[in-house]
Amino acid sequence: MSTAPSNAVRGPSPLRRLPDHKLLLGLFLPMQQGAWSPSRAPRSTSWTFDYIARCTMMAEELGFDLTFGLAQWLGKGGYGGAMRFREHEVDPIIANAALAAMTKRIVLINTVHVLYGWHPLHLAKFGAAMDHISGGRWGINIVTGYKPSEYRMFGLEPIEHDRRYIMADEFTTIMERLWSEDEELTFDGRFWKTERAFLAPKPGERRPFLVNAASSPAGLDYAAKHSDLIFITSPTGADPTQARGSLPAHIAKIKALTRSYGREVKTIINPHVICRSTEREARAAYDAILEHQDPVAADNFVQTFQSGDTASWRGHTRAQWVIGGNVHLVGSPEQIVDWFVQLHAAGCDGVQVNFFDYLPDLAFFGHEVLPLMREAGLRNT
Ligand SMILES: Cc1cc2nc3c(=O)[nH]c(=O)nc-3n(C[C@H](O)[C@H](O)[C@H](O)COP(=O)(O)O)c2cc1C
Repeated sequence: MSTAPSNAVRGPSPLRRLPDHKLLLGLFLPMQQGAWSPSRAPRSTSWTFDYIARCTMMAEELGFDLTFGLAQWLGKGGYGGAMRFREHEVDPIIANAALAAMTKRIVLINTVHVLYGWHPLHLAKFGAAMDHISGGRWGINIVTGYKPSEYRMFGLEPIEHDRRYIMADEFTTIMERLWSEDEELTFDGRFWKTERAFLAPKPGERRPFLVNAASSPAGLDYAAKHSDLIFITSPTGADPTQARGSLPAHIAKIKALTRSYGREVKTIINPHVICRSTEREARAAYDAILEHQDPVAADNFVQTFQSGDTASWRGHTRAQWVIGGNVHLVGSPEQIVDWFVQLHAAGCDGVQVNFFDYLPDLAFFGHEVLPLMREAGLRNT
């Protein structure tokens, strides 16, 4: 295990800038064509910037704490099928720069694959700019890329799993030093070098949120050392009853590791929420997504996760992949809030929800579920 940079180097934790709710609430944005579900059941969900902006502004209005935009690099047709699943995506860092100017309060997080040709000075500069544009509301989900095809798109050879996190550690250390140190930085690393590199303006007190979504020992060691938020997945797949059993040990391990570095971290899971006035209606909506699945897109989607070296998303069945997301919460507003209470009791500090038909589902959630979350003490306002 390597040692964490001191707080003097890192600057104060941005976690204190998050509102003080018992359960953090985020929206997993539908950045890509089809969002999470390789299904052609009718819906409004769209990858267009206009749609993403409407989701973000509605989430802010409803009092959500954060939004998240994932990033992937896919070939022509995306995951394929008639729906060309996930083919289109507006780059999330560019989208967030625009969204930062359109919003006032919500934290905007997006993924960057730091090993695809970036230099830490580039991302430090972009991050400082995002931090200033957003007024301290930007966060970066640092990922190392688990798809060999993505590396090859950049003319690179895939990198062995644990080595990727050693590289990410060096990358992040340089970026953090550029954000926090007042002197020019000359750094002779194993993977990156700088000579008299300097950054002005810096984010300073408002260091961007650092986020990671690892599950493997090497990934979690990186995350414990650098991240403020860790996106977690259920080690036992999408069934929330099983997740409730497996999450406490998984989260306790993450928290203990983080404490060993003298750091604090919050864990967030991303449930797929299918909520209707009654459980029966919600189950019917769930079944409709499955019935309308695009079999080619679904096969290719499942294949990616089963063939890669990612330690997350391991327990999902094919049918669960057609719904998408992590744990599946299906039911009435009361049942959804009950599951949130149980996920919190299992150690989750937050949920980052995804939906099938985003705008109407989000509006329904705001109207029917959020008031019950307040009643249950999960949210203050
Ligand atoms: C909520 C969540 C969001 C993620 N977003 C992305 C993403 O946008 N792009 C990506 O390439 N990987 C993404 N990942 C994958 C992780 O970065 C990581 O590769 C994966 O969880 C496997 O963990 P491991 O690297 O420790 O084996 C995400 C994972 C989770 C749980």
